Amino acid sequence: MEHTRIKELLNATEFGKEVVVKGWVRTFRNNQFIAINDGSSINNIQAVVDFENTPEDILKRITTGAAVRVKGQLIESLGKGQKVEVKATEVSIIGDSDPEKYPLQPKKHSLEFLREIAHLRFRTGTFNAVFKVRNALAFAVHKFFQENDFVYMHTPIITGSDAEGAGEMFQVTTLNLSNPPRKENGEIDFKEDFFGKSTNLTVSGQLEGELGAMAFGNIYTFGPTFRAENSNTTRHLAEFWMIEPEMAFYELEDNMDLAEALLKYVIKYALETCPEEIEFLKSRLLEEEKSKPAAERSELNLVEKLNFVLENNFERVTYTDAVEILKRSKPNQKKQFKYLIDDWGADLQSEHERYLVEKHFKKPVILTDYPREIKSFYMKQNEPDAQGRNTVRAMDILFPGIGEMVGGSQREENLDRLLARMAEVGIPAEEMEWFLDTRRFGSVPHSGFGVGFERLVLFTTGMTNIRDVIPFPRTPKNAEF
Ligand code: 4AD
Ligand code: MG
Repeated sequence: MEHTRIKELLNATEFGKEVVVKGWVRTFRNNQFIAINDGSSINNIQAVVDFENTPEDILKRITTGAAVRVKGQLIESLGKGQKVEVKATEVSIIGDSDPEKYPLQPKKHSLEFLREIAHLRFRTGTFNAVFKVRNALAFAVHKFFQENDFVYMHTPIITGSDAEGAGEMFQVTTLNLSNPPRKENGEIDFKEDFFGKSTNLTVSGQLEGELGAMAFGNIYTFGPTFRAENSNTTRHLAEFWMIEPEMAFYELEDNMDLAEALLKYVIKYALETCPEEIEFLKSRLLEEEKSKPAAERSELNLVEKLNFVLENNFERVTYTDAVEILKRSKPNQKKQFKYLIDDWGADLQSEHERYLVEKHFKKPVILTDYPREIKSFYMKQNEPDAQGRNTVRAMDILFPGIGEMVGGSQREENLDRLLARMAEVGIPAEEMEWFLDTRRFGSVPHSGFGVGFERLVLFTTGMTNIRDVIPFPRTPKNAEF
């Protein structure tokens, strides 16, 4: 390659050397100073143009957003905030950008505005940092599992099952919408359609992952999953990435240990390999917090918050104990919760989860042994407790500022119990024979969990809206690009 990446030059000390830089113009000041960014760093390199010897036509075309090639000498910079700059001897335009039309102006744009031009927001410092951290976290996930004897398994995107049994699926049909095969009553006849049955985009790779665990011992999936839940929140996407390990011979405690180790490993990796990006995001967050009332500002900055997670054990609490804490809590007593906790059995809302994590324990919390009725059919059933209440070996990991980061469980390995539960919740066994075979032939205790990857990126970057940590967010009424 003729050119050098800017990141490399910013730390270089070979002053006097001739270099070529290629990138996009962030700003052009005084007909002289071009700030150029090529994506390799959040930071720009400054090129100083000899405007007296540069054709007028070229100078006019050095506009924000334009792509340029600059050849020149690497010199020590006298300006503050940068160690080096390029004394340009030759500037050429690779691609023009009409300054009247280019939406990214050299000023601070709101995240809301940038969401509307999501196709261009990669070119900002904030999104450069966010997606670099996302990239590092994704790599760390693979590194962690590969170092720990797990097999990366690709589970299907198109499936015929509803892994969570929640009915929140996107149906798949062939594209010929004007003429799909129809039954006499007008409904689409999936028997005559492409797959000969009704299919949907996967909500989770878990069930297929269980098949892998029963052969390899330890597997993980890491891919896109889809949920047609109509929740327009800062924590939900219709398409999100999930990390799902599944392990044979693991009980719930082993499962919790693994989840905690994974989360700590990947966050530590991001801190170590993206120091500039995390520092940038920390400052961004501090700036943003200034506009909040003092009482709402977080006590810890981003780096302290991440280190806090690394240094502390996650609190492990049963659902039953958590409900007792919540019942006695001030917001419950003073009726400040939107949903008051008065009975055992209710699903916890995010206000309750946040209370437990942010106010009570003040650290990540693993909640276990949820009521059977509010959890998925495949979870291992506990013996009824002294009051005859039924729970399952579920675990949810709750994070400060995020709420549920992980959902997992030990699985029901007993065929009869599993069949009975499926019958109770109305899942036809004949459609799940392939899954039930794991319980017929060499069934073993096993466990697994799913980490919402975007929620992990949210936490690690300190961003507050999940739409800002995935390149192309899909949410209700929004699937541009
Ligand atoms: O708790 P969930 O639904 O669990 C499962 O899907 C299990 N099959 C996982 C397993 O045991 N293998 O989802 C797991 C995690 C949640 O804790 C949350 O972090 C994330 O996935 N998640 C979402 N993230 C973004 N948008 C959504 N709509 C999400 N739904 C779940
Ligand atoms: Mg869940």
